[in-house]
Amino acid sequence: MDQTTYREGLEGIVAAHTRLSHVDGKKGELLIAGFALEELAQRASYEEVAYLLWHDDLPDADSLAKLARQLSARRALPQATLDLLRIAAGHKTAPMDALRMAAGTLDLDSKQEAREQALDIVARLPTIVAAYARLLSGSEPIEANPALGHAANYLYMLHGQAPSPAQTRALETYLNTVVDHGLNASTFTARVIVSTGSDLVSAIVGAIGALKGPLHGGAPGPALDMVFEIATADNAQRTLRAKLERGERLMGFGHRVYKVRDPRAEVLSAAAAKLYEQNEQIAGDRSLYELARFVEEQAVALLAEFKPGRNLQTNVEFYTALLLHGLGLSSDLFSPTFAIGRTPGWLAHCFEQQGHGRLIRPSSEYVGERGRRWASIEQRSTGR
Ligand code: COA
Repeated sequence: MDQTTYREGLEGIVAAHTRLSHVDGKKGELLIAGFALEELAQRASYEEVAYLLWHDDLPDADSLAKLARQLSARRALPQATLDLLRIAAGHKTAPMDALRMAAGTLDLDSKQEAREQALDIVARLPTIVAAYARLLSGSEPIEANPALGHAANYLYMLHGQAPSPAQTRALETYLNTVVDHGLNASTFTARVIVSTGSDLVSAIVGAIGALKGPLHGGAPGPALDMVFEIATADNAQRTLRAKLERGERLMGFGHRVYKVRDPRAEVLSAAAAKLYEQNEQIAGDRSLYELARFVEEQAVALLAEFKPGRNLQTNVEFYTALLLHGLGLSSDLFSPTFAIGRTPGWLAHCFEQQGHGRLIRPSSEYVGERGRRWASIEQRSTGR
């Protein structure tokens, strides 16, 4: 390969072969281990999708029950993790930072084999986020309910009551929708980390750090804030136009790969519509859903006017915000919940990388000076 090939942001560079997911940005298609997103997301449970990514096949009833049992048995947090969360809550640390710190405690038993460690990570991240959300709001964490599946138990640990089947379905559809997405920044981070021979907990901590940024997984909170700021349909044009005139980015729009509407936005807007239509949402009401649809239409039209030729369309974050808000999650929990959804995908990429990947080590092109001569500290201080 030409050693001088340089693409800003590595755009268009293929850096891995994967069986896990495929993103077609022109057609607006996302395949998860061979399934179209629309086929899988609204039918499968979280456990089924995790199994699919880790085994390249859907589980039969026994394998699924086994995975569900294994995860359920591992949900409780080590005391040290809880102590850390209490300290972080005392400092009002942001939930995504608390999750990153607490995830780093998950290999206190570092002798575990990688697959065991992966189960611990998947099982415990929701417990960390739910426990921290409660501590932040001044209440005590709620113990996991072994009778509930992964998604339902997360809502139970957050709200203290078992969710309805429709609420569970909505969350499961969300978690499945974000489980994997090609070589996105956090997944790439995880693969780089394990490519050095490092461990899964390090990879997940790094991936959470990468996901946190507003250009990646940090956008849904601001996307919902924007809808709240607009408040009524007749404010939409004016508020959005003013943002674009100030050079601001509209959160929840635009994507590095998709140049048409993100297929995940399609799946999540349908899931949000169902939740809000059935009056099963915990927060917001049907008018919020309708306002969001209207804001989306206006935003896409204004982006075409302000950034012609860029094809800036709705991305996954816009309807993530609406769906998770409807499930009673505060906006600071949106990115941590995204991390919970993406974790089986991160881990599957780690396994794939460990299986056949080489050390990931791109090159850089030196653009600095050459031939500089050393000057002593005295010479530098006297300006000579
Ligand atoms: N609102 C306004 N303008 C946007 C925009 C948005 N949401 N997204 C991109 N643009 C503009 C940029 O300002 C740039 O304009 P310019 O050429 O006049 O400078 C142009 O479109 C290309 O942007 P660029 O940053 O090069 O595209 P990218 O492929 O690197 O960006 C994102 C992809 C996701 C980072 C970008 O679209 C963005 O910041 N979106 C908002 C944040 C968001 O929703 N993130 C979640 C992603 S799933």
